[in-house]
Order: sequence, then structure tokens, then C-alpha cells
Amino acid sequence: MNNPSARIYLDTQRVISEISPLIFGGFAEHMGRCVYEGIYDPSSPHADAHGLRKDVLAALREIGYTVMRYPGGNFVSGYRWLDGVGPKESRPRRREMAWKSIETNRFGTDEFMHFAREIDTEPMLAVNLGTGTIQEAADLVEYCNAPTGSYYSDLRAKNGHAEPYGVKYWCLGNEMDGPWQIGHLEAHDYGRKALEAAKLMRLQDSQVKLIACGSSNDHMPTYPEWDRTVLEHVYEQVDYLSLHYYVGNRNNNASDYLASAVIFENQLDTLAATLRYVKSKLRSKREVYLSWDEWNIWYKNMEMNGDWQEAPHLIEEVYNLEDALVVAQWLSVFLRRADVLKVACIAQIVNIIAPLLTTKTQVLKQSIFYPLMLFSRNARGHSLDVLVESPKYPTSYNEQPLLDVSASHDPATGKGAVFIVNRSQNQSLETEVVWQSGTPARITAIHQMSGTDLKAANSFEHPEVLTSKALPVVPVQAGKAKLTLPPLSFTAVVTSS
Ligand code: AHR
Repeated sequence: MNNPSARIYLDTQRVISEISPLIFGGFAEHMGRCVYEGIYDPSSPHADAHGLRKDVLAALREIGYTVMRYPGGNFVSGYRWLDGVGPKESRPRRREMAWKSIETNRFGTDEFMHFAREIDTEPMLAVNLGTGTIQEAADLVEYCNAPTGSYYSDLRAKNGHAEPYGVKYWCLGNEMDGPWQIGHLEAHDYGRKALEAAKLMRLQDSQVKLIACGSSNDHMPTYPEWDRTVLEHVYEQVDYLSLHYYVGNRNNNASDYLASAVIFENQLDTLAATLRYVKSKLRSKREVYLSWDEWNIWYKNMEMNGDWQEAPHLIEEVYNLEDALVVAQWLSVFLRRADVLKVACIAQIVNIIAPLLTTKTQVLKQSIFYPLMLFSRNARGHSLDVLVESPKYPTSYNEQPLLDVSASHDPATGKGAVFIVNRSQNQSLETEVVWQSGTPARITAIHQMSGTDLKAANSFEHPEVLTSKALPVVPVQAGKAKLTLPPLSFTAVVTSS
């Protein structure tokens, strides 16, 4: 029997939206071994003069994170930012309540700003709206962004940083809808507090972009009513509404798991509609967008009790082939909803549910590293409205196409990219890519990741079980190119005009 066939139609005029580069962001929390032993470990043979892990920095640069959220997460809702600045020897050692760990405060705001510069990423700071006050939130904006000549800006200068950092992106708390959150609030109370924090923070720096807490996930009993209520308070003062979601193959049902894009699209649709509703209700002229500032796969390792240790091993999830195929789809959903999704941060970047795992001497690239890196490096310019003809397969979310596709085209550089997941567990698909307009001169690269074992994963002993391989490029003839897409594969086709 011949392989079944599929067709992908691209038209560089059929544009969904400009892709915000900030959708390729990461998140670093003071949790487990993300900061300590991940980013920062002065005792590692790979540490630089600042204690940053050079091998980790190199791998983070390879991904090319465009924005980095810090310092939490649940951690931020009990964090006193003043603990983390000034001479290290006088910083307090505290019991950290979100993860029941010991926080040494050896790494704080100034160290994070240095780290962000090292990996050339835009910093995005979260303020504590759990135990913290709106005054402390505004003081942190002053510390980071005000020119010297006032108390907190002079403190920054005293700590060795005379020039303001100019931090643009600020999260107004974290997951404040969750009963687990330190200082959790009802929607109405959070909306009022976030509004007042926003006003004060903007008085410190009128240029800041603010992100209000949306629902922690779509299973919350208050979803999406929380989002509507909060937006009705803060709509005129914020730039983004956050959403979070962690997916997992909890029932070990690969067909459904590989169709997870449906869940991600539903969540975006609901919140895009909520934004529209509130905008209309308030007769507002303002556009507020979405920031998916925690997203990833998390269900295998649920160890969240730090037992009052420094840098405990918490939620060090190991990622396999099926996880990488889900991450690739998630990023494709980001492109397909580029009209409303403008910021996204994978949670997290090292050790904690992350593309990278470390030992004292090694760094391991997990399976999900590769799709993240391929999207981040290649998807720029316009997101294209792709037409896909593909065989379908049954799932709990009705029939879904075997191929999940997104595409980008940058008119400024002429570079294009097509991202394709073949969800089939046994069928290779002969696929024709058809350019209806904007045919590229050539395909410059084809990167592919595939395998036969859904559960295969990289390990320190076998680090290259799953990587992306460069395939021989195929010609573009009469506006068409032919690809063979193996089952359980992710392919990124890069073109130039
Ligand atoms: O990323 C791990 C945790 O998940 C974050 O601290 C929290 O915001 C979310 O519930």
C-alpha cells in the first residue's frame, strides 16, 4: 500500500498576524534546582566569575530565549525583594514557604539582571501581591528603573549598578486565583489590588508593560469568571492577561495526548473572547493581549516538598518523544493565535520541568529542547494561515488531522519556516507543500526529530537518543516541494526567497 498523502497550502499574503518575538520566552523561579545548581552554582567547575554556569548559559543561548520571567511562580508571593540585594554576606537565610525550602538569597534582582544580559534576553519581573504591598511593588520598580537621586535608585547604585535597568515587563503577582497561593485573593479583591499596584508602578515608570493574573488553568472552578472580573477592574491599566497551563498524558492515552493542541486552542479562544467581551462592555479603545507565561508538560514528577533543604530536587520531569511532539504543537498553536498571544514563557528553563537538566559537571538537553530551539530560531515575521489536507484520526476531541501545522514568513528577510507534527503512530505521510503565493527560491534546511518509542528519552548516560537531525534539502519545483514525514515526527522546513 502506498503511504497516504497530505498537502499543505501556504500563501505569504494570507497572514494571521505579526509574530511577537516574546512568545519564545522562559521562566526561572526560585524553586528546587532552577536558580541554585541550575543557573547559579559557584561550586561547579563550569562556573564563571559571577557563579553562573557557563555550560547552562551556552545551552540557553542556543534556544534563544527572547524574554525571561523571574523570580516566580508561587515563590514570588512570599518574596521580600530587599532580601536579595546588597552584600551577599548580609542577605538573610529564610524559610521559603511556597516550596518548604531554605532560600539563601545569594541570587537576587541584580544577579538576575546580569544573567538576563548574559543570555541577551528581555527581563520580565513579577511583584509580590501575596504578602507584598503595592508600595513594595512600586519600590522595586524604582530600584530597577529610576535614575539615581532617590532612595531605591541610589541603593541600586550603591549595589554597583548606577544605570537604571529599564525593566519593561512586570507581572502583577502570580496565580492569585489559586487557594494554594500565599495571600490568595478573590477575583474582585485581586482586581482592586492589581489596579492600585498598576497605578503606583506606572507612576514610578510610565513605560512599563503590565500583566494581570488570569486563571491558573482551565480546570479552576472560577475559570473564566475570574478573568472577566479581574479584567473589568484593570483593563485600562494593563497590557496583558496571563494564562497558565500544564498538560500531561495522565491516562497513558497517546492518541488523545498527541491531540493536545485542541486543549491549548480552546483555552486561547475562551480568553480571547473574554478580552473582547470586557473591551466591548467598557467601550474601551485599548487592546489587551494574552501572556501564556507558564506552559509545559508536568505530570510525572510531583515532588514539591523541599523538606527545608537548600536547592532540593523538585519536579525534575524527564521528557520523552511524545512530550516533544506536544511541545511542538503548543508552539504551533502560539503561531496560529499570534493575533492575540503576544508573550509566552515555558516553565521552566533548568532542572524544574525544564528542557535542561544539570549535574555538578554536566548539562543534558531533553527532548523538548529541540522543538523549542527550532521555533525560537526560525519563526519570525508573519504567521501564515495554513490550509492543511490531511488524513484524520479518532480522538476524544472528535476526529483530528494527523498533521498539525504552522508557518511563518518574514517579508523583511525573505526567510520562511513550516513546522509540522505527524501525530500518526504508524503511518508515514507523503506530503506536498504548495506555495500558492510567495514561492521561496529554495529550502535551506530541513530539521527532523522522530522515533518509534513514544516513551524514549535522553539521559546523562545516553544524551542523544532524541535530537533533531538535519535532513538533505529537497528542491522547490513549480511552487511545490515533496516531503516524507515519518510517524511520530516533528519537522521544521526553513526556506529563503
Ligand atoms: O512552575 C511551577 C509552579 O507552577 C509555579 O510556581 C506556579 O506558578 C505554578 O503553579
